[in-house]
Amino acid sequence: MVSAALAARPQLDPIPALAPVPRRTEIALRNVSVLYPCGRGDSKTVLSGIDLEIAAGEFVVVLGETGCGKSTLLRLILGEDSPTAGSVQVDGKPVTRIDARCGYVPQKYSLFPDRTVMGNVMYGPENARSGILGRWRPSFWRYRRELRDEAGQYLGRMGLRPQDLTKYPHQLSGGMQQRVAIAQALLMRPPVLLMDEAFSALDPSTRSRLQEQIHSVWLESRPTILFVTHNTQEALLLGTRLILLGRHLDDRSQRSNILLDMENPLSRLPFARRAQSPELHRIQEQVKQIAFAASSMDGTEDPAEFANPESDSQ
Ligand SMILES: Nc1ncnc2c1ncn2[C@@H]1O[C@H](COP(=O)(O)OP(=O)(O)OP(=O)(O)O)[C@@H](O)[C@H]1O
Ligand SMILES: [Mg+2]
Repeated sequence: MVSAALAARPQLDPIPALAPVPRRTEIALRNVSVLYPCGRGDSKTVLSGIDLEIAAGEFVVVLGETGCGKSTLLRLILGEDSPTAGSVQVDGKPVTRIDARCGYVPQKYSLFPDRTVMGNVMYGPENARSGILGRWRPSFWRYRRELRDEAGQYLGRMGLRPQDLTKYPHQLSGGMQQRVAIAQALLMRPPVLLMDEAFSALDPSTRSRLQEQIHSVWLESRPTILFVTHNTQEALLLGTRLILLGRHLDDRSQRSNILLDMENPLSRLPFARRAQSPELHRIQEQVKQIAFAASSMDGTEDPAEFANPESDSQ
């Protein structure tokens, strides 16, 4: 079983060389490991020896089976978690705490229950700005009006209707709340955007529309995006680069490293043509096979697990 999985590991076609363009490194992880305590003085290694460099403006999609450390990776870059060993830098500076450089759409997002949709989205930038200007200055109120317009535009792009903007979180579906959380992160215009399964609660057609929207936001302002998904097709439609986390084939422990780090050849096509590309299904299958070969090392995993929890159906 194990050797069959190893033998089945496909080789991806070599990617044609691109002319080298010097680009600023936005995110750098050097030899990063994360251990979590797991009772009785024991610890469990989740990530081990991760080396990763992401240039400014890349759209990196992170794939990997459940529990392999994708959210942990994002939290390290955000500054919500710190590595047990190694270093994490954003824009050349060590990450020591959460700051305005990174916007974050968490896997388990939470909105302020006592604020409306608009109130939730405005909260971050309004508070950041009122600290500098003071709410009593006319310039703050001018800024606030402009901000409201912009917030309305982002919420509209996320498919919320004008009548939704005065609703409270308990009046929204899970998918609507998720879209509010995305608009909230976008309005802060962070240079780095960390999105953890940001589309997981959406039905296929809304998800498709949002994929298009997030791609156009990325084209407009070129933030560096790290986008976690279980959906390989989504990864290939959105990313300029794919990273697959998982166990190396010679490692029987649960610790994860980077199994695959590849430029996404489909990212050279216009967005609208990617879904029809014959390459889409071919690369999708190859990535899934590599993931499955790693996840089935101990023979306990089901092939369907990699796509779990939402599968690749769109
Ligand atoms: N604060 C913590 N304390 C102890 N263990 C943790 C902590 N955070 C995460 N873990 C463990 O680390 C492993 C990786 O968790 P993580 O949430 O990063 O996985 P994931 O790849 O995002 O999974 P999923 O696809 O299910 O979201 C899991 O086994 C999890 O139980
Ligand atoms: Mg996660």
